[in-house]
Amino acid sequence: MSAAKSAEPKIVVTPPGPKARELFAKYTDALSRSVVGFYPLVAESASGCIVKDVDGNEFIDFNSGLAVMNVGHSHPRVVKAIREQSEKLLHYSWTDFCYKPIVDLAEQLKAVTPGTHSKRVFFANGGAEANEAAMKLSRWHTRRPLFLAYTNSFHGRTFGTMSLTASKPVQRRHFFPLVPETTHVPYPYCYRCPFHLTYPECKMWCVDFIEEEVLKKYHPPEDTAAMFIEPIQGEGGYVVPPDEYFPRLKKILDKYGILMVDDEVQSGIGRSGKWFAIEHWTGVIPDIITIAKALGGGLPISAAVAKEELMDWESGSHANTMGGNPVCCAAGLQVLGIIRDEKLLENATRQGAYLMKRLREIQQEQSIIGDVRGRGLMVGAELVKNKDTKEPAAQEATELINKCFKRGLAIITSGKCTIRFAPPLITTREILDAGLEIFEGALKEVAAQLN
Ligand SMILES: Cc1ncc(COP(=O)(O)O)c(C=O)c1O
Repeated sequence: MSAAKSAEPKIVVTPPGPKARELFAKYTDALSRSVVGFYPLVAESASGCIVKDVDGNEFIDFNSGLAVMNVGHSHPRVVKAIREQSEKLLHYSWTDFCYKPIVDLAEQLKAVTPGTHSKRVFFANGGAEANEAAMKLSRWHTRRPLFLAYTNSFHGRTFGTMSLTASKPVQRRHFFPLVPETTHVPYPYCYRCPFHLTYPECKMWCVDFIEEEVLKKYHPPEDTAAMFIEPIQGEGGYVVPPDEYFPRLKKILDKYGILMVDDEVQSGIGRSGKWFAIEHWTGVIPDIITIAKALGGGLPISAAVAKEELMDWESGSHANTMGGNPVCCAAGLQVLGIIRDEKLLENATRQGAYLMKRLREIQQEQSIIGDVRGRGLMVGAELVKNKDTKEPAAQEATELINKCFKRGLAIITSGKCTIRFAPPLITTREILDAGLEIFEGALKEVAAQLN
């Protein structure tokens, strides 16, 4: 593809062009009505940081296909590994038999996840399934029935994980009953503190609240198996807690023998500039880590990595047919190798710092940006109608991403009104600049409507 390494978008016909419109109409007719569909981007091919649609338009990709294509689209090493592995062994049901790629990937995941303790790995196909495994494992090991999670969180859409998920009513409406007695506590979202307090004067009441108001009053710790956390909330709006937050939380959880399940489905595999986002909080070693999205370089694979002593469930207690597929494992091994060899953690840190700096400069001029936050290349810009009232500019955010789409930038929202910047970790300053130019132009137009 011509623009694989290009920093420029190419719009040959205003998207959606005729072919995209035709296909999108069929998509709308044929597929489940439950799909979200941000805008009619009909992808035909992709390479590096550029996605090409069926009409020949080329978009700068700030989505990474929903935080999946961390090593870029169709990285030659990933493609080669998939081709070679698919000619050797396509499938052989990992929970009943054995093959080398799954052993190699398990060993590598044990090495890159936080903590030097012994670990074991359970493989599955997607993020929800990895979290579902973590839920079952937590119950099995602790013999405790209850879970804690956060408001504004997203952990998946199966019955188990939907019970943890709490970011939008539409994700739960008409699906009750869920897993009973899952308690949600407020996430440390300092820009919109649920307690209407201000950091640091608040002394992090949101952590103490969990112990003082929840565990000591109505959610008995001795009945609580695990607390699920996103170190940086993904679907909730790319929200980053303060530095002391997770160390203090882990201390409370340890005191009561409650496991910390660190959902790194979106924030992991280098997205935040570290292998796993929880590493930004010093000394916090989760009990179980769940990984998906970017792990397979575009193929479906997920994992729950647990402390050795926790994975003591009996043979046959949990399994699946398709998890840890050998082709997906071969792709995953390349993803980890590419992140190392191409120094993508360093690049994500460097480019992410630049991206945040540029967004803060834009914020100086455009008061519609209320907050800029993030780590590495997991960056959010929250839009507000008014800086003082912080009234969410949700409609404006939707308009903005649609304008960007028409001009060659694929970018979406997260939470109510946050623009999420999640480009591939191979991105360059030139690509960021080209994307930001489109973003800034569209932002000015949307902001002007507010005045
Ligand atoms: C933090 C987090 N956990 C879990 C999931 C669910 O993953 P999947 O869609 O692969 O089931 C997502 C998906 O966006 C996520 O962001």
